[in-house]
Amino acid sequence: MAKDFRLFVKNAKQIVLVCKNGEKFLTKDGMQSLAVIENGSVVIGHDGLLKAVGSADSIESQFKGASFEKVLDASGMCVLPGLVDAHTHPVWAGDRVHEFAMKLAGASYMEVHEAGGGIHFTVGHTRSASPEKLLEALQGRLGRMLRAGSTLVECKSGYGLELETELKMLSVIQAARATQPVTISSTYCGAHAVPKGKTMEEATEDILSVQLPALREEVAKGNLQVDNIDVFCEKGVFDVDSTRRILKAGKDMGLNINFHGDELHPMNSGQLGAELGALAISHLEEVTDEGIRAMATAKTAAVLLPTTAYILRLRPPRARDMLDAGVIVALGSDFNPNAYCCSMPMVMHLACVIMHMSMPEALAAVTINAAYSLNRSHTHGSLEPGKQGDLLIINAPRWEHLIYQFGGHQELIRFVIIKGSVV
Ligand code: NIG
Ligand code: FE
Repeated sequence: MAKDFRLFVKNAKQIVLVCKNGEKFLTKDGMQSLAVIENGSVVIGHDGLLKAVGSADSIESQFKGASFEKVLDASGMCVLPGLVDAHTHPVWAGDRVHEFAMKLAGASYMEVHEAGGGIHFTVGHTRSASPEKLLEALQGRLGRMLRAGSTLVECKSGYGLELETELKMLSVIQAARATQPVTISSTYCGAHAVPKGKTMEEATEDILSVQLPALREEVAKGNLQVDNIDVFCEKGVFDVDSTRRILKAGKDMGLNINFHGDELHPMNSGQLGAELGALAISHLEEVTDEGIRAMATAKTAAVLLPTTAYILRLRPPRARDMLDAGVIVALGSDFNPNAYCCSMPMVMHLACVIMHMSMPEALAAVTINAAYSLNRSHTHGSLEPGKQGDLLIINAPRWEHLIYQFGGHQELIRFVIIKGSVV
């Protein structure tokens, strides 16, 4: 006989809702006082959506006599929302372990890039890889992210830098949507670097008159779902003017603006993002005070990437200044061949230690605020009825263990649940 509901998680020691009043994002005060239930239970329906979250007693009486496809006893354990990774580059072939050695020996990111390595190295390997090989690699990486608690992941193209390979990457991302459980937000990042043999002006023209029109056609035919547009706005890559033209063209197609800015040099990215109505800007190691103010006013989220600053030994992004100014701060892993990290718990740990965020701030940054940066905070990022039933159950008596214990998440995270199913 059909059961009434898909999943009952009962008697958890703590349930971190993150927020409970339908907030689309949190700023500093809200991030510091997350909604937590002590001794609670969760019910998820057959539609994969959260049906009820509350104290164990109230859920027990509300669902008295109901039947469930699956019951998980979470006694002594904690429940948190599925984590959201707001920035990844997960489709590529050919690792760059040799460049890690060069960087450890003192080479800078741009020195490696200008010598034809870095993104260019990965572009060469990705252009010649088959879609099957790229899909297999992507599925493996999403699987690792899932085991570390990520249930919604932003995935960029950007290792093609020409139409054919950019479309190949987006098609691979599209195929991954149908073949594994992690929810994906996809980003066209054809302006990730100026391809070898072209000037920035020629690359911009190619994006505007060749790549974006072709992308629009694929989307219109229903072959691709693309959510966001990204540009690497950086000295020696795309300047502010080209960035503006490309992002505007993407916005005209209905894409969310979510771009790389102020990573190595101040580029006035905060002001540009505010002017364009950007949903998010990533990196921001070199953002100015004016840029921070512009982002706070425009409600443009800052997607901070502590792995990059850590690996490249950059000045960490000024998370505290942004939080104090009222910016919506999110976090991403920046998974890519430069920053080989699939783990948002590790990212939170780094954010706390090197960017001086508190643990509640870090958790809000990888849940509701990361969801906001992807325009998904109406469906993801908190445990509120009606949202997607994505959650983690960790084998620890307090939720902060997810950040405190760095490494070994396979032991700590007992269950990852997406749409009410254990995955
Ligand atoms: O976000 N900075 C630009 N893009 C990536 C790195 C990509 C790569 O090095 O392959 C980033 O860190
Ligand atoms: Fe990136």
